[in-house]
Parts: sequence; structure tokens; C-alpha cells
Amino acid sequence: MKPKEFIAENKKKFLNELFELLKIQSVSADTKFKNEVIKAADYLVVQFNNLGLDNVKKITTDGHPLVYAEKIINPDYTTILVYGHYDVQPADPYELWDSPPFEPIIKKNKIYSRGASDDKGQMYMHLKAYETLKATTGIDFNIKFLIEGEEECGSDNLEKFVIENRKKLNADVIVISDTSIINNQNPSVTVGLRGLSYLEIELTGPNRDLHSGTYGGAVENPINALCKMISSLKDEDGVIQIPEFYKKVKSFSSEKRKQIFKIPFDLNDFKNTINIKKEFGEKGFSTIERIGIRPTFDVNGIWGGYIKEGSKTVLPSKAFAKISMRLVPDQNSKEITKIFKDYIKKICPKTCRVKVSEHHGGEPVRVNTNILGYKAAASAFKKVWGKDPIPTYDGGSIPIVALFKKELKIDSILMGFGLDEDAIHSPNESFGLFNFYKGIETISVFYQNLSSNSE
Ligand code: BES
Ligand code: MN
Ligand code: MN
Repeated sequence: MKPKEFIAENKKKFLNELFELLKIQSVSADTKFKNEVIKAADYLVVQFNNLGLDNVKKITTDGHPLVYAEKIINPDYTTILVYGHYDVQPADPYELWDSPPFEPIIKKNKIYSRGASDDKGQMYMHLKAYETLKATTGIDFNIKFLIEGEEECGSDNLEKFVIENRKKLNADVIVISDTSIINNQNPSVTVGLRGLSYLEIELTGPNRDLHSGTYGGAVENPINALCKMISSLKDEDGVIQIPEFYKKVKSFSSEKRKQIFKIPFDLNDFKNTINIKKEFGEKGFSTIERIGIRPTFDVNGIWGGYIKEGSKTVLPSKAFAKISMRLVPDQNSKEITKIFKDYIKKICPKTCRVKVSEHHGGEPVRVNTNILGYKAAASAFKKVWGKDPIPTYDGGSIPIVALFKKELKIDSILMGFGLDEDAIHSPNESFGLFNFYKGIETISVFYQNLSSNSE
């Protein structure tokens, strides 16, 4: 039987297995779900054992477990390391879901569930591609799976594992399906990801909340002050005003910018799907460039004072904000974090005290298109989709990619099958059935392209 036929015959089985995984509430950020995270890891252990893989292990860490499995057929064959994550983002706000987030359901040829696209659905395609080849052409490559449970909360314990297991993880190719394609007519392979610096600001004015009448006008309001500080950090042209912020940003040649300009993109579509009248971003750059190759500064949350029902005349003691900056080569997350901290302290008015704390970060990524893995991916897309994939720059971050490069010296092939409309991290996350099955087929061909018996 041909791989394509096997996939067609097993559609129901593959989907049912994915549904079982999607039902497990493996939210890594919230300790309330700790046991569910373990349950998802255990489920993968069962699935890997069913595939006949060796050394299948749930590896405990200081946080959530990793799952590892491998099949080494012949040390001389090409070794593929598959990375993915089985943890998901919190499903909040639950009331905005049309159906419960952990009760997967098919509507209009899409799977709706938290994790459907990010990353359970995409990660699971690799297990099914392996199963497909095992049942049809046979396996002429070595494979290692490393599936983690902490990607959505910063991969805190993965670095240590990678550093301590360099040999175990050694491979010729790393492949990750945790990104998106342009659309179902225009396949793409991701060649750039942004890095991330994430910080939290706490601004304190008076030592207690004050009556806004008896003190108002005579004491600085930390919320007003924080708003002023934050709004000074980006000008009307969308240019970030933190000194030295752009110092290491690599500029693209006009040749390369022309290539990016050719990536199919419909601005009206972009605006309509998120219901905005006008886009906004750094002057002099197109929307695709703003997302793919330029850095950002954004407030992710801001709070303080009285926000419950009715009114309370209060001049608050404190104001808070969560800040993210997406980074591009050659910015470095630690450096940008320091630049930001120093500058915030500098612009804090004398009327307030400021504390800046750090959350997780990650480094930006560029994938070399001249390597074995990229060529195998491009040719798999060409065969299955009938079109050469377009190299694209995604705005999101997968911090492990830079870590693999640094510690294992291996590039990761970012072979994702999601769509922007999947609404990852949002209510009503979905993943197209087309993408799920086509992804399994494309990954099977990718593995075959790396097989020792491939022509
Ligand atoms: N899969 C995403 C990253 C992604 C999404 C890349 C779409 C390209 C296209 C990943 O699970 C994720 O959400 N990453 C986080 C970073 C992490 C440190 C929390 C992100 O980008 O916010
Ligand atoms: Mn992901
Ligand atoms: Mn994610």
C-alpha cells in the first residue's frame, strides 16, 4: 500500500487518537492542571510504545515532564530529531468559546479545541507519519522524539536537559511543526522566528491608596505616570524610542525585501478578519515585514487602581504593566532586557519608584535554506502540494530553536501546517482537517526524502 492510501484509510483512527489527547487539559502555566499535564505525557508514552519505538520515557524535570522516544535502525542512516510540545495555553476566557475547549469537535472541516493547532495537532502528525511509513514503505532512517510540556510557559527546564543530553539528542536534522503556512493554496516553510524579552513593571507612588479629592492634584498618580512612560516608548511612526534598541537589528537588502514583498498577502483580508479599519506599524515597512523582520514593543497587560463595579474615588498607590518585545537578528534577549530596564529606571519620574522584573525570553532565529533538511522539506511540499514552498518569516517565537542551534549546533526545519485563522492562544482555536491529513502526508514524504533508500 502507498503511504497516501494508508493515511486515507486511517483518517478516523488518527483523528480519534488526536481527540483523546486534546481532551486532556494540559495547561502548563496553571498549577491547577499539573495532573492533566502528566496525563498528556502518559498518553504520549502509550502512543510511542504502540508505534514500537525504543527507550520510550517520561522524563521528570523540576517542572513538567518531557517525553522521549527513539528508533535507531542503523547508526549510518540519517537521524531525525522531532521536537514538539504537548502543553497548551490556558483556555481563558472560557465564556468566549462556542464549544468547551477540551471537548474537541468538528465543525466545517475544522477541529475545534485548545491545542488543536498549537501544538498537539501538529506534533501528533509526526507520530502518524512514522506509523504510515512503518506500515507501508518501511523505515530507513533513525528517529528521535523530544516532546515537552513547558513550551507555553517558557521551557524553563529544557535547556538543562539539552545541555546534559547532547549525545542522546544528536541528529542530522531537527524538525518542528509548530508554525503556520501562508494559506492552503500557498505552502511555505518558516525561515525566521522572532525572539522575545518579557518584563513586568511595578510603579509605586504613595505608600497607600489615597482619597482622590483630598490628595488629588498634589501627588503623582502612578497610573498616569506609567501611561506617560509607556507612551513615550513608541512614536507616532511606530518607531521604538528606547535608545540603542535598534542597534543590532540587521537590515535587509533591497533584493531580500523584494522577495518578501512577493509573499502572497492580502491587507484587506488581514484587516477584515480581525475587524480593524486601519493597520499600524513602523513607518517605511510593509505589514509582512513588520511581523516578520522588525522588532516590537507592546504592552500585554496594564492594571492598577479601582476596576470593579461602580466608582471609587481613589488615587492608587501602584500601577503595573506587562511588556513584551519581539526581537529580530542580531538582537539578544538579555541585552535588550538590560537596555529596557536601565531606560525605564532613567525615565521614572522622581515622584515614583519603579521595579522591573524579568519573565522568560528567547532568541530570534534564521534557518539556513541550503541544508539537507530544508531541501527535504521543500521537495516534500513540492511533491504533495504541487508547488514550491515560499520561505516566510513568522512573528512568533520558539525559544528552543536557538537553543538547539547553540547547544547541538543543529538548524531546525520549521515545517508547520497551521493557519493564522487557527486562532492559537485565543478562544475557539481550530486546526483544519485538510491541514492535519495533508501535514501527515507531507511529513511522510519529508522523512522518505531523508531515508537511506531515497533516490
Ligand atoms: N507555536 C507558537 C509559536 C508560533 C506561532 C510561531 C505561530 C510561529 C507562528 C508557540 O507555541 C508560542 O506560542 N510561543 C510563544 C513564546 C513562548 C516563550 C511563550 C510566543 O510566541 O508567544
Ligand atoms: Mn507552539
Ligand atoms: Mn503557543
